[in-house]
Amino acid sequence: MSVNEKPRVLVTRLIPDVGLRPVLQECRAEVWEEPLPPPRDVLLEKVAGCEGILSLLTERIDAELMDAAGPQLKVISNFAVGFNNIDVEEATRRGIRVGNTPGVLTEATADMAFALLISASRRIVEAQEYIRQGNWKTWEPLGHIGQDLAGKTLGIVGMGRIGHALARRCHGGWDMRILYVDKFRNEAAEQDFDAQRVEWSTLLAESDFVSVHVDLNSETEEMFDRDAFVQMKPTAVFVNSARGPIHNQQDLYEALVGGEIFAAGLDVTNPEPLGLDDPLLKLSNCVIAPHIASGTVSSRNGMAEIAADNLLAGVREQPLRCWVNPN
Ligand code: GLV
Repeated sequence: MSVNEKPRVLVTRLIPDVGLRPVLQECRAEVWEEPLPPPRDVLLEKVAGCEGILSLLTERIDAELMDAAGPQLKVISNFAVGFNNIDVEEATRRGIRVGNTPGVLTEATADMAFALLISASRRIVEAQEYIRQGNWKTWEPLGHIGQDLAGKTLGIVGMGRIGHALARRCHGGWDMRILYVDKFRNEAAEQDFDAQRVEWSTLLAESDFVSVHVDLNSETEEMFDRDAFVQMKPTAVFVNSARGPIHNQQDLYEALVGGEIFAAGLDVTNPEPLGLDDPLLKLSNCVIAPHIASGTVSSRNGMAEIAADNLLAGVREQPLRCWVNPN
């Protein structure tokens, strides 16, 4: 195939080599190599004439962008399992394939949810800060008291792949009772961990830990608001490693300050990035990471491989390996 016959694609950030290499071989690819996302006007310019786009969560892929790309656009391959940055309905209407990268980040994300859960429960970040500020003078029988994990109740909101992987850790390792809410029954979780599918209000009232693993959509947006937090135990720990807008951040702040809940562990916030003046950053009972749950070597390599496969299949008008809108 001569260079000019190769499909033109845009890759909106440097991704691991295992994914970038095949894309560079098979396509006329432009790669945005800056650490920050392309500004919107630059993105709109760069997609013009592309048959494929390998995008990140930071890029809003909507009708305007699809128009800017032109009618030859065949595929949008998102380097993420979530795809709330893409107007999938619009893409489907235009016959544009949309791909994502599920599976390869399940264990890493469940690890991150667990890391946040135990860090927030045992006040690890706050304790490190205490040392750094020169406050560690002695061993304190009444200091740094956190929450126990063993034998407690974990409420999982969204018992999909990642929820199941977190339940496996907590039930198998910490003998926790597992409750869940989900649109669908998860028989494997019920068999494997005795998980009980319960009402929303039961999950909130009975869980010592609540961990979020649902997609962001109009039904889940701000499902954790003041009304939800006040139903939780004052000793409860809230963990969100899914999407920031699933919690109302002002309501979360107030619940943490007012003692409605004990602590929170967040890998996602609203907005992202969080401004340095965000009040959450002032709270000692909130552990925050900058959206890094999939940040392990095998996850990111796996995501790069799938995203590249999806992109190449899409420009060849073949079925995608992980296809969001096959119908
Ligand atoms: C990250 O948040 C992802 O959806 O992969």
